Amino acid sequence: MKLLITGAAGFIGSNFVFYSLDKHPDYKIVGYDALTYAGNLETLKPAMENSNFKFVKGDISDRESVFDLFEKEQFDLVINFAAESHVDRSIEDPGVFLQTNVIGTQVLMDAFRKFGGIRYHQVSTDEVYGDLPLDNPHAFFTETTPITASSPYSASKAAADLLVMAYHRTYQIPVTISRCSNNYGPYQFPEKLIPLMIARALEDKSLPVYGTGENVRDWLYVEDHCRAIDQIIHNGEVGEIFNIGGHNERTNLEVVKTLLNLLNKPQSLIHFVADRKGHDLRYAIDPSKIHSELGWLPTTNFEEGMKKTINWYLENREWWEKIISGEYQEYYKKMYGGGYADL
Ligand code: NAD
Ligand code: DAU
Repeated sequence: MKLLITGAAGFIGSNFVFYSLDKHPDYKIVGYDALTYAGNLETLKPAMENSNFKFVKGDISDRESVFDLFEKEQFDLVINFAAESHVDRSIEDPGVFLQTNVIGTQVLMDAFRKFGGIRYHQVSTDEVYGDLPLDNPHAFFTETTPITASSPYSASKAAADLLVMAYHRTYQIPVTISRCSNNYGPYQFPEKLIPLMIARALEDKSLPVYGTGENVRDWLYVEDHCRAIDQIIHNGEVGEIFNIGGHNERTNLEVVKTLLNLLNKPQSLIHFVADRKGHDLRYAIDPSKIHSELGWLPTTNFEEGMKKTINWYLENREWWEKIISGEYQEYYKKMYGGGYADL
């Protein structure tokens, strides 16, 4: 089997590369990534030592580069993780989100259509379902919940999903889509809630919680997401959409307080800041389809996952310290304003 993993130098893509090399030692894997601010080739260093893995730098919306790659490699499975993934950045500058997340998906699907393969898998998100109210804990996203995107990011992911299903119906491309809840774990870029808060707490800096901190996310340890995708691409029925999540809802404030307790840092580090524009209230996945059809269940609970994640950030300071120096400082100042003395 030969796999194409796009977005391989990002958070989930790199974790999926490691997972697949380990689970399928006979597979050949090509990682393709444009190495944007979110892509880090250093992350893939251990994979580079494996002769079954090869990295190619390129943009999924660059038709010539993608078509050359498909012609040369003749992939069996294509898994598209590549995306602009951060909601706050999409609010600042939507254009690149449409280019990568929509046009990039179209280019990959066109290449798949021309050169063939066993399966095209689109890694999507629960954000395409919009949000749920805070006052109805019995409401969940199912695969038939209508698409209602709130941010330019989620709109671009929703557009890509519609395109993937349209290519399936029109051109009979063998596709699957997965829509996962919030991931956390090793190699997550420290602009996202959990690694941002770990990195800042370790430096005794203020922790910017948006609005009241009552918004709810449904957290899943990244390895559980990788295992779910692996099961879908091998055993999931073509043309189907699978939600992925582990019934692990927490308010943002609960997440931050848990982190502070585990790090033995004071709650006084918490600072409430202006809310995100259009901030989704609550995400909560109903994972009964993937459980009943593929037998998938998460294996890492939140407390265990948080401990593993914190240990990873403690043991890999060099990885994230490099990232938060330099250009990222400018991003932080722009996004969070100049109101903090310790920025
Ligand atoms: P990430 O931002 O950490 O990584 C994205 C990767 O894509 C980076 O390596 C980046 O360099 C690469 N990339 C960006 N634009 C590209 C382009 N034009 N061509 C090629 N490569 C490009 O994102 P992530 O958190 O690992 O998310 C991966 C996928 O999973 C995304 O599609 C995202 O929508 C989806 N997802 C993420 C989460 C989450 O909680 N992080 C949850 C559900 C779904
Ligand atoms: O649900 C899946 C989605 O999860 C993925 O599709 C996205 O790619 C991924 O980025 C993530 O989106 P969120 O917007 O939920 O994640 P983020 O880590 O940015 O924020 C989580 C929550 O924490 C959200 O309610 C906003 C809040 N937050 C975030 C940051 C960065 C804060 O309160 N303060 C912050 O500084």
